Amino acid sequence: MSTIIYFSGTGNSYHIAKKISQHQNAKLISASDFEGTSISDDTIGIVTPVYCGGLPPIMYDFLKRVILRSRYIWAIAASGGTVGNAFETINDILQYNEGKLRFAEMILMPDNSILTRPKKEDTLSALENEERLVNEIIPYIDAKTENEYPVEKFLGKTSKVQWMSMKWVFRCNDKRVDKKTCTDCGICVDICPLENINSTNNKIKIGKNCTNCFACIHWCPTKSIRAGFIKAGDRFKYTHPDVNATELFKKKKAIKGV
Ligand SMILES: Cc1cc2nc3c(=O)[nH]c(=O)nc-3n(C[C@H](O)[C@H](O)[C@H](O)COP(=O)(O)O)c2cc1C
Ligand code: SF4
Ligand code: SF4
Repeated sequence: MSTIIYFSGTGNSYHIAKKISQHQNAKLISASDFEGTSISDDTIGIVTPVYCGGLPPIMYDFLKRVILRSRYIWAIAASGGTVGNAFETINDILQYNEGKLRFAEMILMPDNSILTRPKKEDTLSALENEERLVNEIIPYIDAKTENEYPVEKFLGKTSKVQWMSMKWVFRCNDKRVDKKTCTDCGICVDICPLENINSTNNKIKIGKNCTNCFACIHWCPTKSIRAGFIKAGDRFKYTHPDVNATELFKKKKAIKGV
């Protein structure tokens, strides 16, 4: 049997993981929901976005916390164009437990990093190509092919600087809700993978335990959440068109042990 682990803020990684899990009849596990300490299976896949030239902290923490036992571990980076050191980091963590990343590929997906403001045509062409690219990769993982995956060492080395500039230049850690437009719909509360958003007395409060996945900003129907100097707007508000917010909601019942 196969297991596929994903983390996804705006649905790109989830959509790819779901498609492959349907093809392989694989178990689909959200990295932010899983509470066990190990996963063993014939094959294990990891589908993740790339954040600031590396792994998103939620995927990094998951891999540090959960031992993956499988002879064939593969990964797909659903990224806005670069992989940085994401695959190298996955392999480094797996090696602690004598594991190895056997196969990895990047799939170019719409960029949700609110700082870059991608062009509409780039978003549309990435979505158009998604299915073809996934279908091209599936036979390789079905056949348990191994490859030399891409590593962008320089970008990986700039990762810390990218995170620092998000925090200190763009002030992204300072999330604010516009009380005039917020309808208290609760989507941001349910979507936050770290349960960092609460609603008390019809007021939304965003706490300090934020990983800057920007899920709350992109999924808010009234564009009421801003990250420091960056306010959500049509130019960069994005969610995968075939993914429903509820599919990504932080599960109330975590999946324990596999
Ligand atoms: C904080 C943050 C940083 C990002 N940094 C990068 C990056 O360094 N390189 C890149 O190609 N894409 C970057 N992206 C874009 C995402 O990797 C890309 O849009 C991904 O497909 C989102 O996946 P999801 O919809 O599953 O969350 C970043 C996104 C966020 C939110
Ligand atoms: S998703 Fe937006 S509108 Fe809904 S509660 Fe959150 S901030 Fe308010
Ligand atoms: S508060 Fe928003 S940006 Fe921060 S972790 Fe939660 S959903 Fe992501």
